[in-house]
Amino acid sequence: MKRFVTFEGIDGSGKSTISKRVAEKLQADGYDTIWTYEPTDSTVGKYVQECIKKQSDPFITSFTFIADRILHSTQIQQWLDDGKIVLCDRYAESTYAYQAAQLESEMKDPLKWLQELSKDRILLPDRTFLFLIDPKASLTRIQHRTELIPFERLAFLEKVHMNYLKVSKGKRFLHLDATQSIETLVKICYNDIIQKTKKK
Ligand code: ADP
Ligand code: TYD
Repeated sequence: MKRFVTFEGIDGSGKSTISKRVAEKLQADGYDTIWTYEPTDSTVGKYVQECIKKQSDPFITSFTFIADRILHSTQIQQWLDDGKIVLCDRYAESTYAYQAAQLESEMKDPLKWLQELSKDRILLPDRTFLFLIDPKASLTRIQHRTELIPFERLAFLEKVHMNYLKVSKGKRFLHLDATQSIETLVKICYNDIIQKTKKK
C-alpha cells in the first residue's frame, strides 16, 4: 500500500501543482487523503522561512528544517494511524539535496551527515516521486514569482539537482520527467499510488 507519498524536486519542477491535483483526484474518488507540505506553517516552519531569507548559517538552517520535519512527522503519523493517505510536498530528501549543497564547503560528506542526523526521527515514505527538470527550465517557469528566494539561483539549483540524483537510488523512488504535461504527470502519480491501495 502506498499511504505516505512524498514529492521532491528543485524549485519550479511542478511538485505543488501535481501533488495538489493528485490529492484532489484521490479525494474526489473517495480516498481519505491529506495534502501537506514542508516547510510547514508552524512556528518552527516560519523560522525556517526566515533562515532562507536571511541566508542564515547553513548549520542553523539544517537543524531548523529537521526540527520542523520532526514536529510534522508526529502529525503525519497520526494521519496515517487514522487510515488516511498522506501526500507531502517536500520531505527529507529536500534537506539532503539543498542543505548538502549549502554545506559542501563545510565538511567532507554533508549528505551522509544530514542523513545520519535525522534518521531516527523521520518516517519512511512508501513512495517518493522525484520531478526531474533542467534547472534553467525550472527557473524560467518561476521567474514571474514576485520574489525569488536565495536558493533560486542557477548554480545552486544545479548542485541541488545533482544531490537529488545521488540520494534517490532504490525502489522507493520514481524518477519523473517533469516536462511532461500536467495531466500526464497527475495520471502517472495517481495510478502509482492507488495500485496497491484498497478503496475504503
Ligand atoms: P514547485 O512546487 O516544484 O516549485 P510549481 O508546482 O509551483 O512548482 O510549478 C511552477 C510553475 O510551473 C507553475 O507556474 C506551474 O503552473 C508550472 N508547471 C508545473 N508543472 C508543469 C508542467 N508539467 N508543465 C508546464 N508547466 C508546469
Ligand atoms: P518551497 O516553498 O517548497 O519551494 P518551491 O515551491 O519553490 O519548491 O520551499 C522553500 C525553499 O526551501 C525551497 O527553495 C526548498 C527549500 N528547502 C530546503 O532547503 N530544505 C528543506 O528541507 C525543505 C523542506 C525545503
